[in-house]
This record gives sequence, structure tokens and C-alpha cells, in this order.
Amino acid sequence: MIRLEKVTWQHGPSAGRERETLANISFAVPQGGFRWLLGPSGAGKSSLLRLLHLEALPRSGTCELLGTSITPHVKRSALARLRQRISMVHQDYRLMPTLSIADNVGLPLRLQKRDEDEVAQEVSTLLTWMGLGARQSSCPAELSGGEQQRTAIARAVVSRPAIILADEPTNALDEAQAVRVLTMLRELTAMGTTVIVATHNDALVRRYPAPALHLEHGKLIGDE
Ligand SMILES: Nc1ncnc2c1ncn2[C@@H]1O[C@H](COP(=O)(O)OP(=O)(O)OP(=O)(O)O)[C@@H](O)[C@H]1O
Ligand SMILES: [Mg+2]
Repeated sequence: MIRLEKVTWQHGPSAGRERETLANISFAVPQGGFRWLLGPSGAGKSSLLRLLHLEALPRSGTCELLGTSITPHVKRSALARLRQRISMVHQDYRLMPTLSIADNVGLPLRLQKRDEDEVAQEVSTLLTWMGLGARQSSCPAELSGGEQQRTAIARAVVSRPAIILADEPTNALDEAQAVRVLTMLRELTAMGTTVIVATHNDALVRRYPAPALHLEHGKLIGDE
């Protein structure tokens, strides 16, 4: 469950900037819910996803994620536990450049201290499904943009997180791959995962009708 009430946030110090990056944002997504996150470039989509990924804390308002209220007083241990249950596909992938594709995808499982054989098996199955079975020992720099993006998606889903935040996760993919990824994300919601996908891909949004959060100039102008 995600619930935001009148959340405000901005890049950098509060003084000297005429407007907030995110202003007065209120919405809720139930467990197993799917939302598109739409809006023009610069509207604040990535900023909102980074806030939900706990890379920053709200300046004001209330934010509740998986039953925990995110306030300036929230314990670091509670934040650390929560972060392990929330995955993000960053717009710029953020793969670890010195790790192989398999080790990038295995990272969330190793953080959960899962058995090494199990890690190897799960990573290999997922990467094969993603069409990257033959690239497992490559480094990110040796992959195409779309291959790196599929690696980032695999890393986000491998640990079966409660919340998946995907920032334009299909912009480097061809249509067939984009459909495959969206189908997978929709199937995960049926198993209780909450998913928010920021996109500029109108064709994909039409193909997978779902409620949408519309951002413009940091404000939510529509919820549905
Ligand atoms: N590191 C930063 N420092 C200061 N301002 C920033 C920073 N990153 C983004 N911004 C500003 O915050 C606003 C929202 O940016 P954000 O990246 O969230 O938009 P977006 O909706 O994801 O856009 P896009 O569709 O281009 O990815 C923009 O005005 C942007 O210029
Ligand atoms: Mg963005």
C-alpha cells in the first residue's frame, strides 16, 4: 500500500527556488494496484519515483509505504528494511559497472542472504527469460542500451519486492520486448505486487488500460 497526502518536495535547499519539484501530491495505490505515471518531460515523474524509493524524504505532508509512515523521525533501520521491499528501474539503469550482468541481477538476493545455489538458479532463469541467457558474464558496458535496460528490470523483479517503481522501463526496448515486460509487471500485480510505471509510450498505455497519475509542473492534475 502506498499513500501520500499533501506531499511536497524540492531539489536542493528550500530558499531561492520559486517552485517545488513536487507540490501537494495526494494519492493512494492499494496492494496489487497498477498505476501509469504520465506527464511531460520535467513534470516530476522521476522525482516522485525517487521519493517513493526512499532516496529522499518528503519536505512536508505524509507518506505511508507498506504500513510505515515516512517522517523525518523514522528509524534508519526501519528505512533500511523497507528499502529491501521496494525496487526501482531507474531511467538511467544504474547498473554496477564492475559487476557482471548475473552479479548485478543477483545483488538484491545476496542482500537478502539467500543461498548461493538458489541465487545462481533464479538469476539464470530470469535472464534467460529476458533473452540475456548468453550475456550473463558480460559487463554492463558490453551490452546494448536495451540489454542494459532488461538487466535493470531483471534486477528490480528478482527479489519479488512488494513495490516496483519503473521509470520509463521500456524506452530502449522494441515493441515486442516492451509488451513482454508489461505483461510480466501486470502478472506480478496479480500476485500482490504494487507497480507504478512512468512512461511517454502512449501506445503501451492504450494497450494496457489502467488508472493513471498525471503530473504537470510538479502537481498531480489527474488521478485516474
Ligand atoms: N538534480 C537536480 N537538481 C535540481 N533540479 C532537478 C534535478 N533533477 C531534476 N530537477 C528538476 O526537477 C524537475 C522534475 O524533474 P524530473 O526528472 O522528476 O522530471 P520527469 O517528469 O521525470 O521528466 P522526464 O520525462 O524528462 O524524465 C525538473 O524541473 C528538473 O529540471
Ligand atoms: Mg524522468
